[in-house]
Amino acid sequence: MILSYLYNILKFKKWELFFFATVFLGLKWSKMTTFRPDINHLTELHKCPACFGTSACNYIHEVDLTSYDLYSMFSYFFGVKNVFFGQLNGDHIVLKKLAHSHELDKFDQMLCENNNLLHICPKNLKEATNENNNVNFYELIKREVTLDFAKDNFSHLRLCPNEQHLSKLLKHIYLNNKYINKKMLDINIWTSIILNPEPLLLQILSADENWPVPKYLGACGRIIIEEYVGLPLTAYYYKPWIQRAKITSSLLNAAYILTYQNNDFSFYLTDISADNIAVDSNNIAKFIDLENVIVVDKNIKPDEKFEMWNRLQENTENITCSGCLIYSSADICSHKISDHNYYAICKMLLAFDTNDGILPGGFLHNTPMHIQNVYPNIQNLIKQCISPVRPFTRLTAGMQLKQLLDTIVEDNNENTDKLNSKDYN
Ligand SMILES: Nc1ncnc2c1ncn2[C@@H]1O[C@H](COP(=O)(O)OP(=O)(O)OP(=O)(O)O)[C@@H](O)[C@H]1O
Ligand SMILES: [Mg+2]
Repeated sequence: MILSYLYNILKFKKWELFFFATVFLGLKWSKMTTFRPDINHLTELHKCPACFGTSACNYIHEVDLTSYDLYSMFSYFFGVKNVFFGQLNGDHIVLKKLAHSHELDKFDQMLCENNNLLHICPKNLKEATNENNNVNFYELIKREVTLDFAKDNFSHLRLCPNEQHLSKLLKHIYLNNKYINKKMLDINIWTSIILNPEPLLLQILSADENWPVPKYLGACGRIIIEEYVGLPLTAYYYKPWIQRAKITSSLLNAAYILTYQNNDFSFYLTDISADNIAVDSNNIAKFIDLENVIVVDKNIKPDEKFEMWNRLQENTENITCSGCLIYSSADICSHKISDHNYYAICKMLLAFDTNDGILPGGFLHNTPMHIQNVYPNIQNLIKQCISPVRPFTRLTAGMQLKQLLDTIVEDNNENTDKLNSKDYN
């Protein structure tokens, strides 16, 4: 029945089907000719200043995309992920357009439909007039990072409780780009905030200062270049337990660093998942998707402090939904310190019922019996980090868990060393 129905469709609609297939392939013709992303096509430099910057433009042509993989090719052809892998001077790198193609088109359309932004509409740039150039993009940045959570819960970068120290937050970006006209730079920053603030965060949280993120190499038009960290966390799921313990310790360390390392701001990642974490060759986990971040200014004026400001903000959501990261942005923003990063890491990656199919049993599944016997507290600490019971808080449980994992890794290295030296004797 179904088959004969399909046959009829094909029989009578074959010309229509043929027509649509030809149009589709025609539209993709330029991509089909090479089946490979073309750097000039990817950068869309003509869209600047509504772009991420130009710091990498003088060497982006040296990027070798010939080592592209099937995944990149597929995503390029169908315009989905917009993430490409390549090499630059022998180092592995990642190129990102930072948004899906339809989001980029929507952004361009918005620029062209808004009278105040017409002068940066990509279609108008050639005949751009100076009339509207007095738009203050720094003010637009301020507005964007402080949007009301109740009205828009999806903005990528939030600075709270207020934006009085915004220039301090952006300090590194202004320093890194000091030769660029401030007005143009503000347009670049505003574009990033609207499309995806990852290039900004990669400069604020520089990998050179040990932040758990990839090294930022620069931007050229609508593309950024960053260090390739390694395979995603999911690829380590079946690795030996000790190796996973080391990676987990680095994740808990990352939670600590993001919350405490900077005296002025705490950084809370709100899209933590196994896909958004990659592991480097030293078994150190890094966050490779920084699209959604809440930045809490820890030094607001005393009269602006909330009643609960100095109390630890603890996520008490107990909705049983494995794999869901449920949190209140408003709660995080009304406290100097939140346990959010620990909550996200323990709940999303370590919970026994986490993410169903993605990390069944949690990333630290199948703890070997001999380790459980020597360190019986380990399961309890994982549990406490997911949902703490006094006297634990998530912070104390997370820190103790990290310490215990470090001890186990160290002891096991010593044992392996002893075994190795016995083998030699
Ligand atoms: N710096 C990097 N090092 C290693 N792998 C990376 C890096 N950046 C991205 N990837 C890989 O590419 C994938 C997609 O990257 P990213 O998460 O930035 O894109 P995305 O479009 O935001 O994806 P999604 O919206 O599904 O989270 C990641 O899951 C990861 O496997
Ligand atoms: Mg991602």
